[in-house]
Amino acid sequence: MSVKDVQAIQDKVAEYWTDVRWVESTGSTNADLLKDGSAPGTVLIADEQTAGKGRLGRHWVSPKGSQLAMSMVIDVTDTPPPFGLLSIAPGVAVTDVVPQAQLKWPNDVQICGKKIAGILSALDMPRVIVGIGINVAMRPEDLPVETATALNLEGIDVDFDEFTADILAAMGRRLKQWQERDPQLLEDYRKVCSTIGQQVRLELREGEETVRGLVTGINDEGEVLIDDTPFSVGDVHHLRPTQ
Ligand code: BTN
Repeated sequence: MSVKDVQAIQDKVAEYWTDVRWVESTGSTNADLLKDGSAPGTVLIADEQTAGKGRLGRHWVSPKGSQLAMSMVIDVTDTPPPFGLLSIAPGVAVTDVVPQAQLKWPNDVQICGKKIAGILSALDMPRVIVGIGINVAMRPEDLPVETATALNLEGIDVDFDEFTADILAAMGRRLKQWQERDPQLLEDYRKVCSTIGQQVRLELREGEETVRGLVTGINDEGEVLIDDTPFSVGDVHHLRPTQ
């Protein structure tokens, strides 16, 4: 799958995004926007990434035509840190468009416990680059891990351009809620966060200190509460359900 008409996408999302660009192939859309200093409102979509970046320094697989891989530039001048809630807005946006999806804290987008999308933000004050990769149409043999899936493999077929515009519009609305500190964002996050109520095991550092317990909620800073003790995204290496 590929973008057919980037101008039509731009026209549909002009309220939120002023410069929607598309490239056939690049290393990483996040890295490109970090490097070129693009203005807030810029979006870069790629059919293929050859050096996609994932969380914790991992490689992110984006085979040609299988994923909606894109990054966007946000201005955070008027929205000072902490940015805990910024990382949840894009995930909620995906669940707006894909109602079958849920979020594993903080922002892994899953269907039936399998990951369909990942989100990676990079701070470059006063900009934040938010990157998202959504598995739209993948062959089972291209899935990077057993715990991943794709929309088509879950019986969800989309028109790529329409889907891209819908995701960008939802992103725009949810990021605006974040900028306006609208409590609805967190309320909606809690509704779609499958981690709440789960027994989990949490690694603070790779292979080190482990916390086990029940996820009792997500606090107003977006931190996960394990038996009511808060842990922020920056403190957690990995969180895994234990049942
Ligand atoms: C994760 O590991 O869950 C986050 C993956 C984020 C991938 C997206 S694809 C578009 C953007 N460009 C990148 O290099 N990474 C992000």
